[in-house]
Amino acid sequence: MTDSMTIDAIESAGAASVPPPVALAGVSKRFGATQALLDVSLALLPGEIHALVGENGAGKSTVVKVLAGIHQPDSGAVVLDGKTVTLHGPAHARSLGIAVVHQEPRLFPDLTVAENVFIGHVPSGRLGSVNWREMRRSADRIFESLSVHIDSSAVVRGLSMADQQLIEIAKALSIDARVLVLDEPTASLSAHEVVRLFEIIRQTRDRGVAVLFVSHRLEEVFELCGRATVLRDGRHVITAPTSELTAADLVRHMVGRSVSLFPRTTAHIGDVLLEVRGLTRVGAFRDISFSVRAGEIVGLAGLVGAGRTEVARVLFGLDRADAGEVLLDGKRVTFKTPSGALEAGIAYVPEDRHLDGLVGGFSIAQNVTLPIIPRLFPRFFIRGGRERAITEDFVERLRIRSTGVNELIEALSGGNQQKVVIAKWLATNPRVLILDEPTRGVDIGAKVEVHRIISELAASGLGIVLISSELPEVLAMSDRIIVLHEGRMSAEIPRAEASEERVMFAATGQMAEETSSGA
Ligand SMILES: Nc1ncnc2c1ncn2[C@@H]1O[C@H](COP(=O)(O)OP(=O)(O)OP(=O)(O)O)[C@@H](O)[C@H]1O
Ligand SMILES: [Mg+2]
Repeated sequence: MTDSMTIDAIESAGAASVPPPVALAGVSKRFGATQALLDVSLALLPGEIHALVGENGAGKSTVVKVLAGIHQPDSGAVVLDGKTVTLHGPAHARSLGIAVVHQEPRLFPDLTVAENVFIGHVPSGRLGSVNWREMRRSADRIFESLSVHIDSSAVVRGLSMADQQLIEIAKALSIDARVLVLDEPTASLSAHEVVRLFEIIRQTRDRGVAVLFVSHRLEEVFELCGRATVLRDGRHVITAPTSELTAADLVRHMVGRSVSLFPRTTAHIGDVLLEVRGLTRVGAFRDISFSVRAGEIVGLAGLVGAGRTEVARVLFGLDRADAGEVLLDGKRVTFKTPSGALEAGIAYVPEDRHLDGLVGGFSIAQNVTLPIIPRLFPRFFIRGGRERAITEDFVERLRIRSTGVNELIEALSGGNQQKVVIAKWLATNPRVLILDEPTRGVDIGAKVEVHRIISELAASGLGIVLISSELPEVLAMSDRIIVLHEGRMSAEIPRAEASEERVMFAATGQMAEETSSGA
């Protein structure tokens, strides 16, 4: 098996047998100083689900955008059914049967859900007028097949990341595709939505569609995909059947060295730092009580929408509680603003880096040091060198891939942006750190690094609240797991008794018999 196929090779292979419906032949793409792709060749077969994996910045989304007609290759080509084509834009790629779900939803916020799903191929009625009812009905049918409830006549603005991702998926499913490309489609979905999406992807494959699936979750790669391709630093490393690869192999190809997952050092568990008693916010959560000790990692598990983020927002002073109390070092506190919470030593790494996490137009260094500017620049004495030094330290520890700390945040890949958000809140040197999906979209190397840092922070005496939808992560990292279901606590499980089944049971509200006898 050759790593690098030429256009000729693919075209002549096509002459001999059935050519792959889609291939990249020796594609290179450069952005300024960054060589995003170098001589990448990849053929997708009909009826296969093909994983595309690699660290943050490896070039996965660039491959996706080349296939989507968003980027034109500098050299090399896209080959459809053995013929070289130039994709003039996303509409052109769609018209050729290339359906793409992008990593960052690319929706029109002021249009309705249904309009977004059918943009570019609106069903028309008699006299060519737009058939709105038919459009809404078709959108509803797609959402139904995904078993999700989204009002297709609602305007997109204000919808959650999960809903926006589901709309992206519906949009891709609405065309009769020969190729379905999904760029980290599961990043903001809850467990049951993922199960449903996988069923749909398998059905799509069984209809003979070629599927390219980008994910950082290796268990998904092995569950779903027949072959996998690894990219590293914009280069093709290997393509092989997943049955011939282990997770360790994949990781080694991705990072170019061996790493061990979930490093968790045991910490000395100290006094209670944070205590929450009967916390309630009407419409979001009710009667939540738990405590976090120094050195302890408390996992907050639950399905998307269970109220985990809402609890975190109240603890960080972004929202107000309607009842209950929060104690820090045994003293009752109320924060009207995040700066009050920060001053008291509570930091919050939010889940949506676009809304609350990062400031566009700012450099990496400016973003990292934003919350600590009053400390860095007492009495407005500007010390830019300090800003740079702090940032360089985090860039190195978190392995943030960039051309330097002065690079604009927009130029970083998704996962590297996430690392900057984490660096930003770690730089505030907090006592209680609330992390909301801290490794979503973060690659395996950086993930291990983030886990190591979380573990070290706990060992150094911080109290950590870890919100995560990734069960292996919650289970491996937490000393105790609090499970929320529809805004209420459905279980509190100590580390020794925690299992995926138990957490899932509680998260889906199936724990009634057990808690009535147990608690
Ligand atoms: N429009 C752009 N302008 C400048 N640099 C870019 C642009 N798009 C991508 N890059 C750079 O190209 C490289 C590859 O980025 P790409 O988004 O393809 O990575 P990725 O593998 O999808 O990463 P992630 O896992 O973080 O999503 C990165 O170094 C990124 O910073
Ligand atoms: Mg990407």
